[in-house]
Amino acid sequence: MSKPRLYSGMQPSADSLQVGNYIGALMQWRDLQEAYDAFFSVVDLHALTQPNDPAELREKTRRTAAQYIAAGIEPSKSTLYVQSHVPAHPELAWILSTITGFGEAGRMTQFKDKSSRYGADTTSVGLFTYPILMAADILLYQTDIVPVGDDQKQHVELTRDLAERFNARYGETFKVPMPVIQQDTARIYDLQNPTAKMSKSAESDAGTLWLLDDPSVSAKKVMRAVTDSEGAVRYDRSEKPGVSNLLVIYAALTGRQIPSIEDEYAGRGYGDFKKGLAEVVVNEFGPVRQRALDLLDDPAELDRVLAANAAKAEAVADATLDDVYDKVGL
Ligand code: ADP
Ligand code: NA
Repeated sequence: MSKPRLYSGMQPSADSLQVGNYIGALMQWRDLQEAYDAFFSVVDLHALTQPNDPAELREKTRRTAAQYIAAGIEPSKSTLYVQSHVPAHPELAWILSTITGFGEAGRMTQFKDKSSRYGADTTSVGLFTYPILMAADILLYQTDIVPVGDDQKQHVELTRDLAERFNARYGETFKVPMPVIQQDTARIYDLQNPTAKMSKSAESDAGTLWLLDDPSVSAKKVMRAVTDSEGAVRYDRSEKPGVSNLLVIYAALTGRQIPSIEDEYAGRGYGDFKKGLAEVVVNEFGPVRQRALDLLDDPAELDRVLAANAAKAEAVADATLDDVYDKVGL
């Protein structure tokens, strides 16, 4: 029996990933790559929907790929590649766009949010068709499961609708994928603003832990994290969002249960707790950062790995695209 397929990806939207990306996505990808035939993409075509300096985009793409590997995605086990290296992505997106309703695409809440923030003149058509490209990403690989954050759930629903519609119209072609929505306990919040999700694109990065930061910088950010005046290390998302967030990070990085961490710090202050967490953060990300920097030190080798993986992806993607072209009469 061949393993079920998994597809996921991230945009190269910053020089470094943040700890939310690591806990909410990369750690899970790393575990899932054993049981699944996994495809992990750096979705640089998607990143073009934001303004980008070309040289910087290229660099962010390489750095994102290096961080996938540094976090434990093994390019010999999983297919780890850059989206734009596989031309079948935009080719299938075009075909899918012809079976997507204009109103249907207009109902995507992420598009509505972003376009109302940018205004009509700076909203590109690419931002509008973004979910269709995402559908192509997923469907090209005959994907069984798509691990995503809940903000992407609607896009996976659209992907399923398009797969079913195409199959009904042209005959069985695509596997209809299932979203696997990230657990709430895997959601990490900003250390300075613990009700907002930690993000690569926060306005200030004072509350963002970067994978590639010097560990001493991350330790300082942990020591300065917003807490509350109660002084008790206790999980309570609504009353104590700051402390709860730190507990979630602590638990995720050590594999421990939250109650056991609460017990360890019972009767001790936030200072001790933060020192403990700072140590956990440094121990986890010191080596990850070093591996990423080593990979980036040898660009020729990294490029070789990415090219070999793009070839693996292309073989699967082209088989699907050939079938699609055939079915629609191209
Ligand atoms: P960012 O906001 O950092 O740009 P993305 O929206 O590109 O992150 O998400 C990339 C992946 O990382 C997704 O799988 C998403 O669910 C996960 N992710 C991003 N931020 C967090 C977070 N704060 N907590 C948990 N997971 C996150
Ligand atoms: Na983002």
